[in-house]
Amino acid sequence: MYVLGIESSCDETAVAVYHASRGLIAHTLYSQVATHAEYGGVVPELASRDHIRKLVPLIKTVLNDAKLQAGEIGGIAYTAGPGLMGSLLVGAATARSLAWSWKIPAVAVHHMEGHLLAPMLEDNPPPFPFIALLISGGHTMLIEVRAIGKYHLLGESLDDAAGEAFDKTAKMLGLDYPGGPKLAEFASGGSNRFKFPRPMTDRPGLDFSFSGLKTFTMNALHATDQSAKDKADIAFAFQQAMAETLSIKCKRALRQTGMETLVVAGGVSANREIRRQLQQMATKENAEIYFPRPEFCTDNGAMIAYAGCQRLLAGQSQNLEIFARPRWPMNHLAGL
Ligand code: KG4
Ligand code: ZN
Repeated sequence: MYVLGIESSCDETAVAVYHASRGLIAHTLYSQVATHAEYGGVVPELASRDHIRKLVPLIKTVLNDAKLQAGEIGGIAYTAGPGLMGSLLVGAATARSLAWSWKIPAVAVHHMEGHLLAPMLEDNPPPFPFIALLISGGHTMLIEVRAIGKYHLLGESLDDAAGEAFDKTAKMLGLDYPGGPKLAEFASGGSNRFKFPRPMTDRPGLDFSFSGLKTFTMNALHATDQSAKDKADIAFAFQQAMAETLSIKCKRALRQTGMETLVVAGGVSANREIRRQLQQMATKENAEIYFPRPEFCTDNGAMIAYAGCQRLLAGQSQNLEIFARPRWPMNHLAGL
């Protein structure tokens, strides 16, 4: 069965085709970064209007790349939440309408389940059960994953998400939106001069708090001449604090649950220093660690097509309702 996957929850329009036994067939993505850059963040109304312009042409491109006719698609998976309501509705309405006209099922996919399952697209997928660290622009979660749909939340961010903290810190350093990858680039030219805290690591528990790092960034910045070197050193300190905090919490989650497998996914998992420190920790703990390839860490259609395909194979789909949930707790998901 070929499954068409559609992602439009935020500022990326992405489409993919995944085949139940042959794997990923084709995928494409249009990023709206240039549209939102001048505003310093995503403007929801501009995002949804752009999804309307781009989605159908991208679906045609993917079908063309996959050398498939519409009649060969067996099901459609779309991101139904969490995300921006207008953007979600574009994907949901398009997916639902196509499924109706092609007389095939449509399945609503949870965006963070998509991220969580992205490493399954690789040649060496992680075995269940595992601990998942999901680090994206809107979420930071540690989850005990028993199987698809069997998610137990161990900890989450009490304030800013990891990606949000990267983006806000980058903004303070004068870097353009989205600042995460740019801050990482900046940090590679920095040195170990400032010491930032590792928030909430000195007390038990698996929750996170990153909003305090903004104060440290601001104070460090004001104590310097704000030269390019000063900013690189601050970026370095911020990234080290983030990487070490994530690493400490993952180690704690592995030990607490006795699990030996760690999956790390979501936009921030593309960060090379974070990957390096988590890898080092996992090796010391005798745990196996799995990441998606960098292009599937950030939003993409492949992860939605994959997650939707698993649910469709299990006989799950939605009725004619256009299903969109800006807020959608992961523990509300059904198992397979
Ligand atoms: O998963 P994602 O593409 O979208 C959401 O679901 O939110 O994550 C986007 C987030 C942004 O905050 C972005 O700055 C961050 O991931 N990000 C990074 C890197 N690449 C993307 N943060 C740090 N280092 C990176 N290399
Ligand atoms: Zn995402």
